[in-house]
Amino acid sequence: MFLTLTVNDGSEEAVRDLLTGMSGFTRSVAFREPDEHLLCVVGIGSHLWDRLFPNLPKPRGLHPFEEIKGDKHTAVSTPGDLLIHLRSGRLDMCFELARLLGKKFEGHAEIIDEVHGFKFFDERDLLGFVDGTENPEGDKAEDAVTIGEEDAAYAGGSYVIVQKYLHDMAGWDALSVEEQEDAIGRSKLDDVEMDDDAKPANAHIKLNVIHDADGKQLQIMRDNMPFGSVGEREFGTYFIGYAKDPSVTEHMLRNMFIGDPPGTYDRILDFSTPQTGALYFVPSVDFLDDPTPRG
Ligand code: HEM
Repeated sequence: MFLTLTVNDGSEEAVRDLLTGMSGFTRSVAFREPDEHLLCVVGIGSHLWDRLFPNLPKPRGLHPFEEIKGDKHTAVSTPGDLLIHLRSGRLDMCFELARLLGKKFEGHAEIIDEVHGFKFFDERDLLGFVDGTENPEGDKAEDAVTIGEEDAAYAGGSYVIVQKYLHDMAGWDALSVEEQEDAIGRSKLDDVEMDDDAKPANAHIKLNVIHDADGKQLQIMRDNMPFGSVGEREFGTYFIGYAKDPSVTEHMLRNMFIGDPPGTYDRILDFSTPQTGALYFVPSVDFLDDPTPRG
């Protein structure tokens, strides 16, 4: 579950207090069903950070998400003071914690967006492709997402960028499987990457594989979830990308929306429109429990 909240004026102290209680609230629900691995991640937006912690240094990468306007598609920037990302093998675990948090935050913050994601067959998204295959694992994942000595005061934290996308399923379904595979850059049925010389310049994975000056691949950790409502004809992907440096995700987004080279924007955007866009600092549990910088 993904909850986006805005914090009411005057509720800064109450919210600071509530944040120090987040680990405890999570334990209250998680402890009863340990096998369901309930996790709660909290992200703090740039404006809220300035209100909550005016006397602390700002985490280096924390700033409001800036809109990215391409020739055809725009990555919008939308409000959000807090992001609460709840994960578990079972929705009732997430729902119970969300209910508890809803009560605690009542009168102090408004939940302005709530998405209940679900796992879809084979780890696929609603476009029908396996999503998450090339996520880093183990030490590589930890290295991709965890702030280290470069910002010692906030070591152990991370950054997260979220975008709630809605898909034009009729348009997508009108493409042949080959055209869909060209849009992603992998085969649909068996999820195999296309050869480099066969991959179109506007394929999703062509634009999202990026490198630093030394040729090392820059990675993020995605935890995208499908969501939707059949009655509302709403079919979506909640994009969520964690990184120790949010400029990596921003670079990928510029590639997708503007193109690399400019003009070669990501083909999946012709069938996927972001309704939201926001960036948050994700403090370590130690910082949440006791908000003083380390290091
Ligand atoms: C790869 C779907 C948005 C970054 C993929 C793959 C799929 C996919 C199917 C291939 C399998 C895999 O490795 O996971 C989607 C959908 C999106 C979306 C449906 C939203 C509508 C984004 C955004 C970003 C992003 C906004 C970055 C800001 C990546 C990266 C890869 C990837 C880094 C792996 C590239 C590689 O190493 O091969 N995505 N994606 N995706 N996507 Fe997305």
